[in-house]
Amino acid sequence: MADYSVVLLPGDGTGPEVINQAQKILDLINEKTSVGFNYDTIQCGGEYFLNTGKEWEEGSFERCKNADSMLLGAIGWPGARRKNGDLAGGEVVLGLRSGLDLYANVRPIKLFNGVQHKIHGKYKTVWDSKNVDLCILRENTEGLYYGALQRSRARSTGEAFFESPELEFPGLSGEIAWDPRPISEKGSKRIISKAFEISSKRNGAPSDNKSRVTCVDKSNVARGCQLFRKIFDNIAKGHSNIETNYAYIDAFTMWLIRNPEEFDVVVTSNMFGDIATDLGSVLQGGMGMAASGNIGDKHALFEPVHGSSPKYAGKNIVNPIATINSLQMMLEWLGETHNNDELIQISNLVTKAVGDQIQEGKIVTYDLGGSSSTSEVGDDLVKRMTALLD
Ligand code: IPM
Ligand code: MN
Repeated sequence: MADYSVVLLPGDGTGPEVINQAQKILDLINEKTSVGFNYDTIQCGGEYFLNTGKEWEEGSFERCKNADSMLLGAIGWPGARRKNGDLAGGEVVLGLRSGLDLYANVRPIKLFNGVQHKIHGKYKTVWDSKNVDLCILRENTEGLYYGALQRSRARSTGEAFFESPELEFPGLSGEIAWDPRPISEKGSKRIISKAFEISSKRNGAPSDNKSRVTCVDKSNVARGCQLFRKIFDNIAKGHSNIETNYAYIDAFTMWLIRNPEEFDVVVTSNMFGDIATDLGSVLQGGMGMAASGNIGDKHALFEPVHGSSPKYAGKNIVNPIATINSLQMMLEWLGETHNNDELIQISNLVTKAVGDQIQEGKIVTYDLGGSSSTSEVGDDLVKRMTALLD
C-alpha cells in the first residue's frame, strides 16, 4: 500500500465544484486500488480574503511544501485585491510557483476525439483530433511575472522580496508604473532543458511524427528574449535527434491556430505562455478542457488553466474535465517520481475514461455542446473508472 498526501486547494468561484469531481476519482482510487491518498483541504483565494483578510490560513504554505502533491481549482474573485494592488489569492498560486520553485508550467494541448468546438458562435467539429497534440512549456518563476511572484512568495514565507527601484524613464511623464521582466540564464536553461526532455518522451508533431522543440520569443525586440534564444541554441546542440525551430510570439499565435499539427513541444517565457495557452485551449475545445502542471524538481501543483468563472459559480454547469485531466497529470507525475507503475496505469485509465466519455458525447457540459451538469460529468467518469478498475 503506497500512500500519498495531496493538498486540495478549491479556491474561488467554480474551483470547489471542479475539485469535488476530482476528489470523487481520488476516493475511487482509494477504494479500488492499492494506492491511497490522504487529503488536506485548504480554503483559499480572493473571496476568502474578502471574508477573512487572509489569502489562506497561516501555515498553509508549509502544509503544501510537506505534501506529495497539490491540486488547485481556481483563483480570482471580483474586487479581491490587496492594498498594494496585488491579486488576492496570488499568494496561493503565484506564491507556490515561486516559493516551491515550480519552474515548468506544462500545458498540453490535446484534442480528444469528438470534441465540438465553439468557433464563430456555432458548435462544430472543426479539426481532426489527430492534428492537435502539442505541449506548451511556460517558464513559471520569472519574466514579466517576476515582481508579482516575488511579492506573493514573500507573503507566504516571510522572505525578502524585490521592489522595483525608482527609475527615470525619459520621455514619459505623469505617474509611471512598470514591471521588470528579468530573464535569467538559470531560469531559461532549466525550462528549455525540460522542453527537450518532454519532447524526447513524446511521439513528435502530428504532421510528421518528428520530435521538435519550438522556441517562442520576441528576440527581434526584447533583450531577455535574445538571451532565451541563445540558451535555446546551446541546449539544442546537445539534442541532435530533436528538430528545432523558432517563432516570434505574434506570428506564433497565427501558426498555432493555422497549423497546430506542426508543433510538438513549444517553450516560451512566462507571460507569452500565459497568453498563448488560453488561445491554444480553443484548439482542444476551450478552457474547460485545458489542464496544466506547475512542476519543479521536488514539488508539483496541478490546476486547470481556466479561471474561477464567477458568473457560473455554484451553478453546477462548468466542465470539470480540465481539472480531471490535471488530476491525470498529477497521477502520472506521482507515478514517475515515485516509480509507481500502478499510478501510471491509473493515470492512463483516467485518460481512457475521459476519451470514451467525450467520444460518446452524451454526458458533456454546455461548452462542448451538451447540457449535462458538472457533477453528472464527474459521476459518469467515476462510473467509467469503476468499470475499468474492476
Ligand atoms: C494562469 C492564470 C494565472 C496566471 C493567474 C490566476 C494569476 O491566468 O494560471 O494562467 O496569470 O498565471
Ligand atoms: Mn492564464
